[in-house]
Amino acid sequence: PKTRPRAPAAVSAATAAVHADCAEDRVSALSQVSGVLGSQWGDEGKGKLVDALAPRFDIVARCQGGANAGHTIYNAEGKKFALHLVPSGILHEGTQCVVGNGAVIHVPGFFGEIDGLESNGVRCDGRILVSDRAHLLFDLHQVVDGLREAELEDSFIGTTKRGIGPCYSSKVTRNGLRVCDLRHMDTFGDKLGVLFKDAASRFQGFKYSKSMLKEEVERYKRFAEHLEPFIADTVHVLNESIKQNKKILVEGGQATMLDIDFGTYPFVTSSSPSAGGICTGLGIAPRVIGDLIGVVKAYTSRVGSGPFPTELFGEEGDRLRKAGMEFGTTTGRPRRCGWLDIVALKYCCQINGFSSLNLTKLDVLSGLSEIKVGVSYNQADGQKLQSFPGDLDTLEQVQVNYEVLPGWQSDISSIRSYKELPQSARRYVERIEELVGVPVHYIGVGPGRDALIYK
Ligand code: GTP
Repeated sequence: PKTRPRAPAAVSAATAAVHADCAEDRVSALSQVSGVLGSQWGDEGKGKLVDALAPRFDIVARCQGGANAGHTIYNAEGKKFALHLVPSGILHEGTQCVVGNGAVIHVPGFFGEIDGLESNGVRCDGRILVSDRAHLLFDLHQVVDGLREAELEDSFIGTTKRGIGPCYSSKVTRNGLRVCDLRHMDTFGDKLGVLFKDAASRFQGFKYSKSMLKEEVERYKRFAEHLEPFIADTVHVLNESIKQNKKILVEGGQATMLDIDFGTYPFVTSSSPSAGGICTGLGIAPRVIGDLIGVVKAYTSRVGSGPFPTELFGEEGDRLRKAGMEFGTTTGRPRRCGWLDIVALKYCCQINGFSSLNLTKLDVLSGLSEIKVGVSYNQADGQKLQSFPGDLDTLEQVQVNYEVLPGWQSDISSIRSYKELPQSARRYVERIEELVGVPVHYIGVGPGRDALIYK
């Protein structure tokens, strides 16, 4: 973690008091099981909202993905933390964190993250539970990820090369190893041997020897002992917690447009970052899930390949990238940037049934004379599309119809009350609400923990 370079925006005591009241109203109204999900192509700033809401929840749970997520949050002193697998509730002492069965765990990476947190004064001991049903992601999955991307040449997916896709492939092929397998070291080596053999038969570039397998088994024997205190039947823990009226906040990684079913396939992640992934990734019933907050950046960004209808190139794209510091938390890769895409956002709202939205990074748009919003798509033949297309060939050829809204010039990063935002900024927020039919309850105006307007 590094200390935040910029000074926190100054907020008066009176504004801070009003802000605290609004926050209290919004957050206390959230249902017992609530969720925060990405509603574009990831990196919307979900971590910050989870961190802000976490003190009001007993448990923060991750339901899918792995260390391909990159949540950046700041503690009360402005110290920056980049979390990958550990849920963003970890900075709050009283919050229990859960990594559910739908997630994939790279054990050395997990311990690396914990060491980083503990060396910065964040106590993790006894505060993180890892599902015994979660799948283990091995170094070999990361090697396979790189080999597969290289094999795809120009049509590479643009994965984080963290082995997430290959690990989910092992899961679906039904020869993956799960956290509970660490309790059966007598058969662990045989099962891991099958994975090594599979990878070697599929990729010429994958070389392994018996001694490599033996070394890996020895390494995991040590991890098994170290991980044991974290392992739990999280399905049982979560369902019992619900019975005891504890509040659970679900933290999504990635986003609906990267969903294996609903995203821009094949340029997607290998899990279900949308609402359905909460049930399959935690083992809780749909009827217990209440509020779902969709996190949406005030513009759009995307990492890796795949269609992006509202993408901006040249100077306009560079301006958003620089102002929004759009470089991956996990990989450092520059993100592609463009205008907000309402067609895609409406599709996400439909799939997830969001009860409210968190519009993030509104501050990044300050200083623009006008702001465009993509409101509909025309097909190549000029016909208007009625829904977000599943077929990428269609998506690649769409013409986006834009609405142009006035921008604002002032810095909004120290504003904490909705009514103090410049009129054009409010107009922008309200036009988004009108277009998607979902209220915006939270507005991000800076990266810091308190840079949030509760509307
Ligand atoms: P993934 O799960 O990997 O998709 O990440 P995420 O959605 O949690 O996003 P991430 O934490 O990478 O957030 C993106 C960046 O935006 C981080 O550097 C945040 O500090 C920053 N950020 C979040 N909200 C705001 C905001 O309102 N304004 C500004 N300027 N930065 C913000």
